[in-house]
Amino acid sequence: MKTILVTGGLGFIGSHTVVELQNIGFDVVIIDDLSNSNINVLNNISKITGKKPNFHKIDLRNKQKVQEFFKNYTVHGIIHFAAFKAVGESVINPLDYYENNIGSLVHLLQEMRDRKIDNFIFSSSCTVYGQADELPITEKAPIKPAESPYGNTKQIGEEIIKDTCKANGLNAIALRYFNPIGAHDSVKIGELPLGVPQNLIPYVTQTAAGIREQLSVFGNDYDTPDGTAIRDYIHVVDLAKAHISALQRLLNKENKNNFEYFNIGTGTGSSVLEIIKAFEKATTQKLNYKIVERREGDVTSAYADTTIANKELNWKTEKTLEEALKSAWKWQENQK
Ligand code: WQD
Repeated sequence: MKTILVTGGLGFIGSHTVVELQNIGFDVVIIDDLSNSNINVLNNISKITGKKPNFHKIDLRNKQKVQEFFKNYTVHGIIHFAAFKAVGESVINPLDYYENNIGSLVHLLQEMRDRKIDNFIFSSSCTVYGQADELPITEKAPIKPAESPYGNTKQIGEEIIKDTCKANGLNAIALRYFNPIGAHDSVKIGELPLGVPQNLIPYVTQTAAGIREQLSVFGNDYDTPDGTAIRDYIHVVDLAKAHISALQRLLNKENKNNFEYFNIGTGTGSSVLEIIKAFEKATTQKLNYKIVERREGDVTSAYADTTIANKELNWKTEKTLEEALKSAWKWQENQK
């Protein structure tokens, strides 16, 4: 049985990926510092799969702790989610973001280099494209100057991985996520934003649940059909399965270069107002919202061209937007 290390494995996308890894027979070990996740997720994962992943509470910024971990573990691949990910926060505390997101990555790659560990999957983001000139966004779209230190850590992270693979013969894939939403059908794992949600869907579900008074729609003067910004909202389980496909590609040595990257989205864009309408329809919950000013740093429109990912990863989305929104609402109701 191959062992896969999942860093940030108690987080939103990480936990859903651990479930999919266990479902197909991988042995999983999780490293998480619990800075943006909850230890209860570990039990909830094992309630779904019947298997409890090994767990180590380690801050990957601590090089010595990282070295100690790898002294005791042989892993056949690493899926690296652990990172700070709040765009607005990164503007206020850029050094925290560079120290954590870049420092942690470097420590992991140093261990891979020194211990000849191969097969690295990196959690990247469509943020690297900024406002793309052409839509849908293909992998050929130019990387634009980052709109935030968070986005910059993803761009720099990809460059560090590319150089490391070239110099040390490692193999890696970066998955450039669009907007992950929803929750596992079991309703045992889902998105657990700490404090006031930054992202749209948890804010929508908390408003519907009466936790938040009213949703603010950040701008309706964008150059889009209804004036609100467009994104590509992908069910988190579909996104988790893309990680399995990417890992299998590396384990089976089917990769064509030692550093590859793929856009992971549904291929369909939805505006904020369309999401509100779809949520109300899918859940029969009326949503209280108002239009306010744009949010600094937001792009007008971003949705994926998934042709390459579909072909090379032999992967495609299976869940609909309605299923994703329904699962997000079921998860929110389960939080009571
Ligand atoms: C989506 C749309 C907002 C909240 C960011 C990161 C990306 C990834 C996902 C980490 C936008 C609008 C939002 C609200 C709103 N992060 N909105 N009211 O900004 O597309 O992507 O989060 O992995 O890397 O860039 O996602 O959910 O914040 O916003 O109107 O209360 O919803 O303006 O148009 P975003 P989001």
